[in-house]
Amino acid sequence: MYCVGSVAGFYAMSRAGMLRTALAAETSLRELASAKGLLYGCANSPDRLTADPVFARLVAEQCSLLVPENSLNWKYVEPRYGEFDFHLGDSLATFAKDRNMKFGGGTLVWHEGLPQWFSSLPPPSAKAAMVNHVTQVVGHYRGHAFSWAVVNEALAFRGQGAMLKDTPLLRLAGPDYIEAAFRAAALADPSALLVLNDNHLEYDLPEDDYRRDALLKLLQQLVGKKVPIGALGIQSHLRTGDVPFSSSKLKGFLDSVSDLGLKIVVSELDVAEKGSEATVADRDNAVAKEIDRYLEVILQEKSVVAVVTWGLTAKYTWLASYAPRSDGQHVRPLPYDSELHPTAAWQALATAFARAPAR
Ligand code: XIL
Repeated sequence: MYCVGSVAGFYAMSRAGMLRTALAAETSLRELASAKGLLYGCANSPDRLTADPVFARLVAEQCSLLVPENSLNWKYVEPRYGEFDFHLGDSLATFAKDRNMKFGGGTLVWHEGLPQWFSSLPPPSAKAAMVNHVTQVVGHYRGHAFSWAVVNEALAFRGQGAMLKDTPLLRLAGPDYIEAAFRAAALADPSALLVLNDNHLEYDLPEDDYRRDALLKLLQQLVGKKVPIGALGIQSHLRTGDVPFSSSKLKGFLDSVSDLGLKIVVSELDVAEKGSEATVADRDNAVAKEIDRYLEVILQEKSVVAVVTWGLTAKYTWLASYAPRSDGQHVRPLPYDSELHPTAAWQALATAFARAPAR
């Protein structure tokens, strides 16, 4: 049964691999998370769920939350101003509903998700177009969305001299575009958890130090103005290769976010392979260790409500093209390998949920 005649298949035949496969068949990340009051989810595209029924079954078994990887980005949902196409989002939302999973939408407002037509609008109409987009999309799923990634990657990087990234959104919709997007989303669906999502917040690096600090200031400003933001989404694109990590700095940051009355969502967890490990077993252990040390800190925080991995299996991962391994071997960044066998990362997630305090 385990003999699938490949390196990955051989690895799955190891004792640890067989035990993990048996455990993953008996329980699920979904159940382990749920026992602690947490959601476990993954990002996905509807075409894969339709084309790959074995994979679709695995998603339903293991996940209690489903979010779009790309299909609800602005350029796909509103390819022409005022013309909406919800068929991809609807397909995901229906898949989730039919399998008793929650559905999370996004990203509504992200400079990389913008349709081309947005950038040629004059400023007053750009802000109105953004508000209209948020209103229509969130309204379409009103009552059906657990959460929305309302604004994604708005924060500037260190040395850019401003708090917000210089994007067409900032230039055309104006400096209060974040606030306007959240207010429109809250009006369109008061029951959804509204998330401000951002990256490079996880490690003990000068860039991440700068960004934790700047993001806290931004959150303080937004909360001070009673902007209806519900949660911080911390993307959590991790990497192996001994990147400096400080539990106390990360914990301090999460505490400060919680003290503002916000929830926290791990929104895009995966692990790029940047270490020197070469065998599949060593690589998987390095990926698992990275998830382990990170989630150990994250899940102690009671305001964390969900962990979402950016995909579920190495078969479908953006990292295969975005961060390929230098030796050409296929990346293994997620809880399942390309043959849909649970990896050491599955075990790391399972262990992290099992030891997390209940919320
Ligand atoms: C990525 C998708 O996974 C890719 O398929 C797409 O080509 C580019 O975007 N941060 C985000 C996500 O917020 O939307 C990105 O998703 C990954 C980085």
